[in-house]
Amino acid sequence: MDLRMALTKCLAIHQLPSEELTLYLLIILIGLFFSTAGMAQSPDRSPAQETSPDSPPSVRRIGLPDTPFRYDHLDVPVRWVDVLSRLDNTPPDNPITDHGATLGRVLFYDTTLSANATTSCASCHLQKYGFSEPRSTSVGFRGEKVTRNSMSLVNLRFHSRGRFFWDERAATLEQQVLMPIENPVEMGHQLGPLVKQLSADPIYPPLFENAFGDRQITENRIARALAQFVRSIVSFGSRYDEGLRQVSSPLDPFPNFTEQENLGKEQFFGRARCAECHLPDHDSKSMNQWLVFQLKEPGNNGIDMDTPKSDPGVASHSGRAQDRGKFKPSTLRNIGLTSPYMHDGRFVTLDQVIEHYNWSIRPHENLDPRLAEFSANGMALPEVPKVALAAFLETLTDESLATDPKYADPFVGR
Ligand code: HEC
Ligand code: HEC
Repeated sequence: MDLRMALTKCLAIHQLPSEELTLYLLIILIGLFFSTAGMAQSPDRSPAQETSPDSPPSVRRIGLPDTPFRYDHLDVPVRWVDVLSRLDNTPPDNPITDHGATLGRVLFYDTTLSANATTSCASCHLQKYGFSEPRSTSVGFRGEKVTRNSMSLVNLRFHSRGRFFWDERAATLEQQVLMPIENPVEMGHQLGPLVKQLSADPIYPPLFENAFGDRQITENRIARALAQFVRSIVSFGSRYDEGLRQVSSPLDPFPNFTEQENLGKEQFFGRARCAECHLPDHDSKSMNQWLVFQLKEPGNNGIDMDTPKSDPGVASHSGRAQDRGKFKPSTLRNIGLTSPYMHDGRFVTLDQVIEHYNWSIRPHENLDPRLAEFSANGMALPEVPKVALAAFLETLTDESLATDPKYADPFVGR
């Protein structure tokens, strides 16, 4: 029985004239046709058209303190400031100012920086997870998968090489912060239209004026403000820091640690050799460089063999064979908050990370010689020091960073 017949039957039951019903049916069908055609078109629209520069969302409100928070201040002992200032990658033309970082904070949390107004920097870099995220690999503005794990943004200011991403493809932080906005998977926007859109958004001109002296909005100013905010995310409030302040040699047991944590610290600096890579240039006499927990240069830690399927790391942009499989991990500070681990987020727990170094180091032409020296594919630590090592890594967590209001979402009511 076709539709027409069914309707005629139905009509007979309801005693409506058949011509009238055919007309109704036609109108419904035409309406249906246009609505599905419209739906089919939408994915083809260029991302930049999805938020019109002329219609910024005007209902949004931000809550900022009358006197801005302090973003350039380091709450650490004077002798640490000396060490840190030698590592600082802040360029002379973009020092952190309180108003600049405040603007950066608003931009960081603003979803309208993505093409369809769904995704902000903070969607993948969450304060409570040490500014990384619990997904193994990130998901972009349209729900597509990013190939790598989000990175912690803690203490990037003191990454003295000043290069960013797992493969170090960004040469400065000012360059890096614009890249996710234009990345077609992450945020999918375009900087030209974004500048127009922010200029028409009542939230922004006053913030740019506070930060840069006038209301002009440019790509360069967006980059500088975002970089200032990211550089302001510093963390020296962990139990490790508390202990370090109380000893004359960092190799001494820390008075605020449990016996197990001190045993783990011993492993980290000793037999397990973690510090040789993750705390380079540490020197027990001068207390130099006991602070950043960042590799000096990207390395290969034997998590993959060199196969066509494995991520080439630094070689993906340098093209050099000696860079294949080398990566720059995040700092180990707050590592207890930034699970999962490694460039593809393959390990969920610190125990799994330690098991890797303990037994599962794989051969690779670029494997770091310090790891190649272990027999038995790893450091082969017995159970007790292994558990202690994990306990030590947890002491690098800074609880106050995860809740500090100066790094929190400034948008009200969402
Ligand atoms: C869709 C998720 C996503 C969004 C949105 C996102 N990021 Fe990221 N971020 C990542 C991933 C994944 C990486 C590592 C990518 C890689 O190495 O290829 C990363 C890396 C970084 C790094 C490098 C850190 C380091 O130690 O080298 C910085 C800085 C950063 N992001 C800042 C930002 C800023 C600022 C924004 C907003 C403008 C932003 N991100 C938006 C997922 C995201
Ligand atoms: C030879 C240098 C080297 C040594 C020694 C070393 N690591 Fe690593 N570590 C790396 C590299 C390189 C990566 C990044 C690997 C990747 O993602 O592909 C890394 C990654 C990590 C990560 C994940 C970081 C993140 O952001 O996801 C943790 C945790 C870690 N190492 C802990 C340790 C511990 C604990 C030890 C000692 C048992 C140790 N490492 C020894 C080089 C080293």
